[in-house]
Amino acid sequence: MKSRIVLGVILAAFLMPSSLFGAQEGKYKYDDFSKPDQCGMCHAGIYQEWRQTLMSKSYTHKWDQVEYFKLALPHSKKLAKVAGVKAGCIACHGPVAFLSGDIPPKPASANTRANEGVSCDICHSITGTTEKVPFNFSFKIQPGKVKNGPRKDAKSPFHSTRFSQFHKSAEFCATCHDEQSPYGPWVKSTYREWKAGPYSKEGVVCQDCHMHKAPGRSAMGGKHRPDVAHHVFQGSHSRTKLAGAVDLALYSSEKEAMPGATLKLKAILFNGKVGHDIPSGSTEERMLWLDVVAMDANGRSYQIPVTPKGFKGEEYTIANSKAVAYQAIGEIMDIKGFKGLKRDGDIPDGDRIFRKPFFDPKGRMTVCQWYTKNNTLVDYRIRPRETKIEHYTWKLPENLPKGRLTIKANLFYAEVPSSIGEFFKLPKTEYGPILVNSARLTVNVK
Ligand code: HEC
Ligand code: HEC
Ligand code: HEC
Ligand code: HEC
Ligand code: HEC
Repeated sequence: MKSRIVLGVILAAFLMPSSLFGAQEGKYKYDDFSKPDQCGMCHAGIYQEWRQTLMSKSYTHKWDQVEYFKLALPHSKKLAKVAGVKAGCIACHGPVAFLSGDIPPKPASANTRANEGVSCDICHSITGTTEKVPFNFSFKIQPGKVKNGPRKDAKSPFHSTRFSQFHKSAEFCATCHDEQSPYGPWVKSTYREWKAGPYSKEGVVCQDCHMHKAPGRSAMGGKHRPDVAHHVFQGSHSRTKLAGAVDLALYSSEKEAMPGATLKLKAILFNGKVGHDIPSGSTEERMLWLDVVAMDANGRSYQIPVTPKGFKGEEYTIANSKAVAYQAIGEIMDIKGFKGLKRDGDIPDGDRIFRKPFFDPKGRMTVCQWYTKNNTLVDYRIRPRETKIEHYTWKLPENLPKGRLTIKANLFYAEVPSSIGEFFKLPKTEYGPILVNSARLTVNVK
């Protein structure tokens, strides 16, 4: 009898198409999961950290609410191919609601338990994954008395503990950080980028960079330990994590020049700190761009456009204020006469953009990752420990005044194109440019 059940389970797992993990939807009740503030009674420090992170805001923060309720949810009712996102988005962004079958959850303003986001009890009830290379919320979960964690000798008066090697692995994070769209492409691949890069070979995992270790106690009454895992999960939403994430140097062919001469500039970018590509994660909407501006002795400024390299799809990596995209938004929201929004927001014309554009089934650029049919045309992001060199050829204006010409290169990052941020009236903090690095040099105009 027992072996029959085991065989049945193995067969069921085998027959389940690997991109569909809906099986856990509604298998539990809200009451099966503890509320985070309950854990916080003893784990006060970790709780305070987690409160500050996006993990605790993964359901409630404005852009997530807008994208789910104004785009994904209505789309799931219109188009059978994407019907699964109604529950799928929630499986990663509000897993307690998904596992309790509360789909769609009420909006954040109703203050239901969906608002807990990626909670303590979600991560510490995870026991493994159904996949060899995890993605699309393929975690196995067992809520209850046992909390899974990194220690072999942890003792708690409130719960039992179980040592979990899985929690120390990158595969744990991959269960939610890699995602495949219903049309097939990988629309999130932070784990796969890490796996292909140098850090995986050196044994440096996600936790080493995103959950740093420091001496202290993880709980009231717990042991003092030299290496308690902090729960800061800082990513691109953190200005301090982004600051200096990419090195930037700027060189000029000439130190002195006459008006009318041609100046050759070179910007060198090195990704020495990020364990995966930058940008990563929600690549459909993330942009890193290099803005090069000169200022003459009279204070007048000149935008210097990058010299194209001629690779396939390069037009998507050079800012163009005339380019329009994101037409699917109008179709999903039934906006008559919607012509799309500015593809690159307000990035100055000619700036190099490090990004990976996504295209919908009608071939238009999109931020709807669930409605993405193709994203392999061009991937001009910076891989871990990769150096990228950008060239600029600038013919100095004939009327350039004598004196100091200052050339400044600024590397910016944005979560979402400003055109989309403005359209949906997001708080500026959710899309405004963040300075990653800058470099400058001067040329003496004779
Ligand atoms: C009554 C106090 C108390 C409460 C409430 C509590 N814990 Fe703990 N927990 C502890 C103590 C004490 C330890 C042991 C710490 C140590 O030894 O370093 C611990 C350890 C842990 C560990 C590490 C386990 C391991 O094997 O590595 C995890 C994970 C954990 N707790 C999660 C939670 C979660 C999730 C909640 C809420 C559902 C919670 N705890 C609620 C006291 C508590
Ligand atoms: C996104 C998943 C995730 C969330 C959310 C999360 N944790 Fe953890 N937690 C982990 C992982 C992974 C580790 C192990 C990290 C390591 O050892 O590298 C860990 C470690 C711990 C430990 C052991 C720390 C140590 O080094 O001894 C405790 C205790 C703990 N978590 C409690 C909590 C509490 C309480 C919350 C909510 C306030 C929480 N966790 C939220 C993933 C998570
Ligand atoms: C249960 C699903 C889940 C697991 C497991 C998980 N994450 Fe996340 N994580 C999310 C979601 C959802 C967000 C996005 C929150 C948002 O922007 O709405 C997120 C956000 C983040 C961010 C913030 C990114 C930014 O843009 O600032 C970092 C960093 C991060 N996770 C790292 C990790 C690491 C490291 C692990 C493994 C130790 C992990 N996550 C495990 C679901 C998960
Ligand atoms: C060597 C250190 C390092 C490792 C290893 C690493 N990261 Fe990161 N990660 C960073 C830095 C630095 C940033 C901030 C720059 C950025 O946003 O890309 C970042 C950003 C992120 C972001 C936000 C990406 C974006 O552009 O919105 C996520 C999500 C994330 N990491 C998850 C992970 C996961 C999951 C893993 C493991 C598979 C991992 N990281 C491994 C250093 C690291
Ligand atoms: C496999 C898990 C997973 C699924 C499924 C998923 N997300 Fe996410 N989502 C994440 C993670 C992880 C991040 C953080 C990546 C990063 O920081 O770049 C994220 C980021 C986002 C962001 C960006 C937040 C910001 O601040 O920039 C939005 C918006 C979002 N998701 C909405 C959705 C919607 C809507 C759906 C359903 C169509 C969905 N997600 C499906 C895991 C998932």
